[in-house]
Parts: sequence; structure tokens; C-alpha cells
Amino acid sequence: MTKFYTTTAIDYVNGAPHIGHAYEKILTDVIYRHFTQRCEDAYFLTGTDEHGIKIQKTAAEKGISPKEFCDMNAQKFKDAWKALDIDYSQFIRTTDEQHEKIVQKIFKKLVEKGDIYKHSYTGLYCSGCEAFLNEKDLTEDGLCPDHQKKPEVVEEENYFFKLTKYKDAIIKHIKTNPDFIVPSFRANEVINQLENIEDISVSRVKTNVNWGIPVLDDPEQVIYVWIDALSNYITAIGYDPDGNSDKFEKLWPADVQVIGKDILKFHSIYWIAILMALELPLPKHILAHGWITIDQTKMSKSLGNVISPTAVLEAFNLDIPDPLRYYMASAAPCGKDGNYSDEDFKEKVNAHLANSMGNLLNRTLSMLVKYFDGDIKPEFLNKNELEKQALETVKAVKHHFDYFEVQEAAQKIIELVDITNKYVTDNAPWTLAKEEKMDKCGEVLTNVLQVMTVISSLIYPYCPNIASRMAEQLGYDLDIKLDDINCRYLKAGHLINKDDIKPVFLRMDSELADKKK
Ligand code: MSP
Repeated sequence: MTKFYTTTAIDYVNGAPHIGHAYEKILTDVIYRHFTQRCEDAYFLTGTDEHGIKIQKTAAEKGISPKEFCDMNAQKFKDAWKALDIDYSQFIRTTDEQHEKIVQKIFKKLVEKGDIYKHSYTGLYCSGCEAFLNEKDLTEDGLCPDHQKKPEVVEEENYFFKLTKYKDAIIKHIKTNPDFIVPSFRANEVINQLENIEDISVSRVKTNVNWGIPVLDDPEQVIYVWIDALSNYITAIGYDPDGNSDKFEKLWPADVQVIGKDILKFHSIYWIAILMALELPLPKHILAHGWITIDQTKMSKSLGNVISPTAVLEAFNLDIPDPLRYYMASAAPCGKDGNYSDEDFKEKVNAHLANSMGNLLNRTLSMLVKYFDGDIKPEFLNKNELEKQALETVKAVKHHFDYFEVQEAAQKIIELVDITNKYVTDNAPWTLAKEEKMDKCGEVLTNVLQVMTVISSLIYPYCPNIASRMAEQLGYDLDIKLDDINCRYLKAGHLINKDDIKPVFLRMDSELADKKK
């Protein structure tokens, strides 16, 4: 594998980021960081979706221009991702000049190809979805099922995209590539939606929606948000109908595009049809993650249970985002819904990160100092009884990531931590020391520390700060690629002094953690 290109959905900026947005960005960041450990050129795109009637209306209510409103809110997303250590390579805003210019060219190309045509139309528009809905999609009371709002009747002459032309090709692609939609159980849903597909409106009359990208040769029409939004995945990296950048040639097609299950239709049907129309290769995988609830309840403004990720970091006085990253990334099996609760968060990260993983390193290093002044003697470096297990875990973790099973991979890592803890208990190095079996005692401690180097590499995508604290105390280089991992990186010599042993993560309710507040 030489390159890996991953993207997230771009978030609407009509509010501040919440834990659901954060879930997706964390999931993608963990996938991205894992693949930086497997290839030279990994690239991660995220950003914000800034056009459309909703933004136009909210900005007007606030008495500011849409651009000012977008600038203010886009910054909130950037700040939140910084606080969560989301290591994106690029942040695209759909109001970026370059993006707008290329979207116009894409639109023009599709008009010239005959895939976009003008047509008079009466439809039901939901501004929550920024989409036209069919009568049969509505609830019995005539409301949008997702937004519980009555859609607006819109009568306009719009541009339409010939989605129906690509219907058969998309069905064929999904059927012949069973791993295209991840998890695969969602593929049938998409096939069913495709059965009733119609051509879609891709523009709005400027007098009704003015906050959008004007059609190049028909400025009274504004390009409707989904064509604008979906194109971000290629405009960001230098797609240009008049000649692509080298970056685009290197990165496209995307290896995995991460989105929520609510927008799978747009990505596995509309987006794929657009790419087919542009004669571009298709993304290798679309990962549709589930939704995050709060205490098992859907997040909503009216219930007042919308949680901001940075508020969680503050409430728990966390100096690093790793616990929240770890918790969210393992919140749900691949593609299923997950839940956030304060209690569960505290319990799980204390158990896994502090008690099991952090303590294991801390007490092993402490024994190395107590019995051997922090030295690893050459005679300790015998065959490591744990290496087979550690390497099997690396293989299993890689396998899970090949299927974007982020929670499942985390479970494997914690299993290795548990096995290593059991190895310490079974071999009782403190008893070996008491019995003066010092070579065996040193060997057991060294075996554990070698496995800890592997664990630090494996946990890095989830917990980059904790991993680097671990690696620092182990004198280990986290840049080592997963293919080169083994249990032989620690060499004979002095490893650590007493004063340099530091807990990598303190229990969230421990006395020390309290003092840090
Ligand atoms: N702007 C569109 C996406 C365009 S992509 C070309 C959009 N924006 S959004 O802000 O409503 O949602 C952004 C992402 O966050 C989506 O993938 C959506 O599924 C995800 N989530 C929003 N709320 C969520 C939860 N409660 N839980 C998990 N993810 C959710 O859709």
C-alpha cells in the first residue's frame, strides 16, 4: 500500500460541533492514523458545508452576512478538532474560492455532456435535509421523518441531473463489489432506494436561494448544495476538468469515505453517479457509521441534550483528549449505533487506559528500577514468550482496520493488555526477586516491556498522547511501521530512572487527577 486517502462528511455550520460530529471525525482520524503506520502517503480531508437556505436564513435571523456567520462557526469546528487532536491534512470550506470555481466547471461539464438539463418542477423541499422529498417519504402527517418539519412546496425551473441514466451501473457496481458499502448489511437498503430513483434537482432559483455558487452561464440559478458539497472530495485535492493536479492523480480514488448512515443515499447513489458522469474512478469504500445517542436518547436541541466534545474535556478536566477519543472510537461495532454517557465514559477509560494499560507499564518500569536500577541486562533478552501473541494481535488489528472495524481492533489491543497483565500475575516477578531468581525476574519484566512497545504502537491511533508518553519511557520510536513491528526493539542498557517514571494516564477520579484540577 503506497497511499491512503480518507475523507469525512463536511459539517453544516449552522451550529456548533456536537459529539455526533466528533464521533465521525475521531473515527476517521483513528483510521487515518492507523494507515499512516502502514503507508508513506496517507491523507485526511475534512471540512465544512457552508451554502444553502438554512445558513442563509439563520444568518439573516442573526442580522449578519452568511459569510460572517460561516466564518464564525467554521472556526468552532476547527477549534474542536484541534482540541481532539484530529490530525487532518486539509480542511476544506465550500466557500473556498478554488472549490467554488471548480464546482462551476464541474456543473458546466455535466451540462455540456447532456447529464444536466433544465426542467420546470414542483417539489417538496426540506431545508433540514437540503433536499427534495417524495410524497411517499413523508410521515402520515406530511412531515419529513428526519426533521419532523413540513416541507415547503417549491415551484421552480431548475437544472436536473440525469441520475436515472446511472441507475443500472450503480446497482451493478454495488452487487459486484460487496465490500464497497461498509458495513455490507446497508447495501440492500441502497439497492432498494435505487429501484425508485428519479432525476434530481441540482439548482435553485437565485431569488429563492441566494447563498450558493452561481451556475457559470446562467447566474440566475444557484448550484444546489449536494453537488456543491459532494464535489469537495475532489476539488480539495486538485480535480480540474481542464487538467488535474499531481496531488489529485496520486490520491484519487479515495480509499474510504466516512459518513453517517443518514447520508448514505447521497454518497452511494448521487455521488457515485456524479463520478460516473465525470468519468472518474469510484471510491474504494463508503463507510456508513451509526448514530450516537446521549444516555440512549437521540440528541436534540429541544431536549437540551446536545453535548459538545470540548465541554466533555472541560468537565472531566482532561489535559489530553485521548480518553474521549478512545471512548468514542470504541463506542459502537462497525456501522452500528453507539451511546455516550458520563458514567460509562469514566468507567471504561479508567478500567482500560488507567487500570489495565497505564498501571501495567508503571508497575513494570517500577520493578525494573527497584530490582535492576532501570537496566536491561543482555541476559534478559531471551526468546520472548509473549511475542507470538503480540504479533498475532498486530495481524488481527490490521485485519480489523482493513474492514474499518475500529471498535473491534481496540478490543484486540485491550485483550493483549489483559494477556500481558495475566503473564505478570502468573510469573510474579516480585516472588522471583524474593527467591533471588534475578535472571528470570529480569526476563519477565523485559518481555512485558517489549510487548508494551507493541501496545504503544497499536494504541497510538486512538490515544496519540498516551502512546507517546509510553514510547518516551520505553525509549521507543513510534514512527516504526506496523509491518516492521516485533518484540525486539528494547536493547540491553540503561532504560529509565525512578524520577522519569510517570503515569501515562491518571484515573479520572484519582487523587492525583483531582490535584491537577
Ligand atoms: N453537510 C452534510 C454532509 C455533506 S458531505 C458531502 C451533513 N452535515 S451534518 O452536519 O448534518 O452532518 C455531518 C456528519 O455528522 C454526517 O455524516 C452525519 O451523519 C454526522 N452526524 C450528525 N449527527 C450525528 C450523530 N448524532 N451521531 C453520529 N453522527 C452524526 O449531513
